[in-house]
Amino acid sequence: MATTILFLLSFALFAPFSSLTPEAMSKGASLSVEDPEVLISPNGVFSAGFYSVGDNAFCFAIWFSKLPSHVDSHANTIVWTANRDQPVNGKSSKLSLLKNGNLILTDAGKFTVWATDTFSLSFVQLFLFNTGNLVLRNTEGVILWESFDFPTDTLLPHQLLTRNTKLVSSRSQTNYSSGFYELFYDNDNLLRLLFNGPDVSSTYWPDPWLVSWEAGRTSYNNSRIAVFNSMGNFSSSDDLTFKSADYGAVLHRRLTLGYDGNLRLYSWEEGKRTWVVSWQAIQKPCTIHGACGANSLCNYVNGSNRKCSCLPGYKMKNRTDWGYGCEPEFDLSCNKNESIFQLLSTVEFYGYDFGFFPNYTFDQCTNLCLEACNCRAFQYTYHEDTGSSNCYPKTLLLNGYRSSDFKGDIYLKLPKSKYNSYVNHAEEFGLVCSNEGTIKLARIYVKNRVNGTVKFMLWFACGVGGLEVLCIFVVGCLLIRTRKCSGADKQGYIIAATGFKKFTYAELKRATKGFTEEIGRGACGAVYKGVLSDKRVVAIKRLNEANQGEGEFLAEISIIGRINHMNLIEMWGYCADGKHRLLVYEYMEHGSLAKNLLAGTLDWEKMFEIAQGTAKGLAYLHEDCLEWVLHCDVKPQNILLDSNYHPKVADFGLSKLQNRGVLPNSIFSKIRGTRGYMAPEWIFNLPITSKVDVYSYGIVVLEMVTGKGPTRSVHDINEGVEIEHERLVTWVREKKNGEVANWIEDIIDPTMVARCDMGKMEILVEMALQCVEEDKDARPTMSQVVEMLLHHENDHH
Ligand SMILES: *[C@@H]1O[C@H](CO)[C@@H](O)[C@H](O)[C@H]1NC(C)=O
Ligand SMILES: *[C@@H]1O[C@H](CO)[C@@H](O)[C@H](O)[C@H]1NC(C)=O
Ligand SMILES: *[C@@H]1O[C@H](CO)[C@@H](O)[C@H](O)[C@H]1NC(C)=O
Ligand SMILES: *[C@@H]1O[C@H](CO)[C@@H](O)[C@H](O)[C@H]1NC(C)=O
Ligand SMILES: *[C@@H]1O[C@H](CO)[C@@H](O)[C@H](O)[C@H]1NC(C)=O
Ligand SMILES: *[C@@H]1O[C@H](CO)[C@@H](O)[C@H](O)[C@H]1NC(C)=O
Ligand SMILES: *[C@@H]1O[C@H](CO)[C@@H](O)[C@H](O)[C@H]1NC(C)=O
Repeated sequence: MATTILFLLSFALFAPFSSLTPEAMSKGASLSVEDPEVLISPNGVFSAGFYSVGDNAFCFAIWFSKLPSHVDSHANTIVWTANRDQPVNGKSSKLSLLKNGNLILTDAGKFTVWATDTFSLSFVQLFLFNTGNLVLRNTEGVILWESFDFPTDTLLPHQLLTRNTKLVSSRSQTNYSSGFYELFYDNDNLLRLLFNGPDVSSTYWPDPWLVSWEAGRTSYNNSRIAVFNSMGNFSSSDDLTFKSADYGAVLHRRLTLGYDGNLRLYSWEEGKRTWVVSWQAIQKPCTIHGACGANSLCNYVNGSNRKCSCLPGYKMKNRTDWGYGCEPEFDLSCNKNESIFQLLSTVEFYGYDFGFFPNYTFDQCTNLCLEACNCRAFQYTYHEDTGSSNCYPKTLLLNGYRSSDFKGDIYLKLPKSKYNSYVNHAEEFGLVCSNEGTIKLARIYVKNRVNGTVKFMLWFACGVGGLEVLCIFVVGCLLIRTRKCSGADKQGYIIAATGFKKFTYAELKRATKGFTEEIGRGACGAVYKGVLSDKRVVAIKRLNEANQGEGEFLAEISIIGRINHMNLIEMWGYCADGKHRLLVYEYMEHGSLAKNLLAGTLDWEKMFEIAQGTAKGLAYLHEDCLEWVLHCDVKPQNILLDSNYHPKVADFGLSKLQNRGVLPNSIFSKIRGTRGYMAPEWIFNLPITSKVDVYSYGIVVLEMVTGKGPTRSVHDINEGVEIEHERLVTWVREKKNGEVANWIEDIIDPTMVARCDMGKMEILVEMALQCVEEDKDARPTMSQVVEMLLHHENDHH
């Protein structure tokens, strides 16, 4: 017994080594994988020791001593593991409490796979408390380390979930290593469930289209702490509270994030000697993201049993694991004439739309999807309240499920040539995803705390003076105000996409050849051109260092990543690796509008399209999408043009990512660089609303049509004087009021006069002048701008 000490229950008075502290392991001692000895809590409920997790693979774990797991009566219920992702060998592996106070786990007597990294000169002991907490404590009673601070997939009564901890599910029923689901506090102080898959990630609880109070939560309490007691009362600082179905004194309880992505509170039923579910977060398991992988459908059979199936024309990628999803058996041709659609009724695919097209006829929607090569399917939903239908074309088919509650339909694009064979031989049901899906609760015990009086406020609308304050405004300017999307349908269908890939820093370094080709630079950081391993050309934005944890960064990125519209630049992924924070965007062939204006590459038609597209993108940001976002930095540098000169607005949402870092000179240069586009509200400390973007947009349009503006050397031919951009608006107004019949011709870029449509031009200039009204209430909204431009377009035809 030189190195191993066996600890018996404290009430075992006959313990042969009563001279030692019976339930503790002291400095210099160790537990070996070969000996069946374990630490046992004084009340006998918990054990800590080596637990077999596979062939010759062991984890150091804590489990309920005598209670079997709910899936396998021979297995124990594990509540914590030290080395879940790095099991150790069944020979010569040891847990040792070193003389210096460090607790280490060595694999095969050689490699340290896990350590508490503690240090203490005084006497230190390792205890397993009655609560299931493994604690490293010195003689003064100071706790150096405790397992409660490092939960795996389970919380025990009185164990806190905090801003620094999260639960991560197991990989599968039998594999305890880290899986794809996480329970954590997001940056808005809400407790959420996240599917963090190998390629995509998205949150799914509470329902992502709900704002906090609609989900019965509050985002105002920053303490970020959750706990439940042994009676079954759970409470979280975001106001999520519930009582278990069997509220009261129960022998044992645990809260576990299952490998299937559901969060459940279990209680031990002594009579039946089994764990029963006394609360669960998600009642409809098919709404858990990532369940069946891409291009597949989750179905309910026999109540709430989940089953996965591939879409017609798709086959399972990996026969043994639905997580890989399905892949198409065909190459989708880009030729409109060769595709056909198959109706899948009451099916929803969450996210990944490339736009939102309200009041579209079925034919319009079909054509839209036929014409877009990357359109895999579209969703078409009729809205009784407006009497119109909306069209949601999809680029990826993820999180699909069939539910009779869902009122929309999916039309799947398939090649005409093979249509019959696919549709007739579609595999209806595949493997069962999970046998935990059978758990069904009679009642939901979540306390509904929807409070009608809680109203969001324009918190940013407070007026304060000075340029410094202006800076802070610009930094804090990404005002994401969540609200229920007017375009979202009754069933809570969400328009926006939610997922993207996570890249490693090494991958992106390789893609950019070590960040060599810089293609732009803004307040947030530099932008580089790169080529991903799959040959896609991308623009990679490297953010200035900010003191932000990965979780918070991810939460914010996922908001930006959800915003998806054909006139907004698309984010394909991100990287949060150590200090590095990078964003991966689609690459825009023709660069910025500013560059094109300078080079004179745009004709009148293109300019009108750019004005229209930019307006659509901004209107979507302001009004149509789930998060209400002000851009605050609309300028030609931030409007990018693709290979067809279609515009996409860039850089929305970025200032929020930076607001935790220091605010160095870059912010000042940003303000200077953008001053020409800033609305008077900024200068006069007036409330900042979406109308600041309308103003900037008006300036951009004036700049485009006049050929004069902050980004070009300004020279007025008629007057022979330089015009400063501040005077651009005044100058155009004066021309207009000058009672000259052809004032439009006077102001537009002389190189365009001969070639443009004066009627259209007049509409454009009049609209721009309205946008730059001093009084924000006199300016139109972005969607009114879109109307004006579209309306004219239609008249014209
Ligand atoms: C558990 O899953 C992980 C990740 O998928 C895998 O690397 C590991 O080999 C699996 N372990 C066992 C025992 O199957
Ligand atoms: C449950 O816990 C919360 C916070 O700890 C407390 O405010 C509430 O009164 C408790 N409810 C019951 C029924 O014990
Ligand atoms: C925030 O939550 C904590 C923990 O639930 C609670 O103790 C505290 O009173 C709350 N603060 C406010 C301002 O509601
Ligand atoms: C549904 O349940 C019935 C009996 O409960 C069973 O016979 C049937 O096989 C189940 N169906 C599926 C698809 O699991
Ligand atoms: C399927 O997945 C399993 C486990 O994840 C893996 O071992 C196997 O190689 C995969 N098969 C194929 C064909 O990719
Ligand atoms: C598609 O069909 C139309 C009418 O049948 C034809 O005019 C057109 O050329 C076809 N397009 C292609 C790309 O084959
Ligand atoms: C939808 O479009 C039709 C015709 O284009 C129009 O009459 C109708 O008012 C529109 N409905 C809505 C709700 O915009």
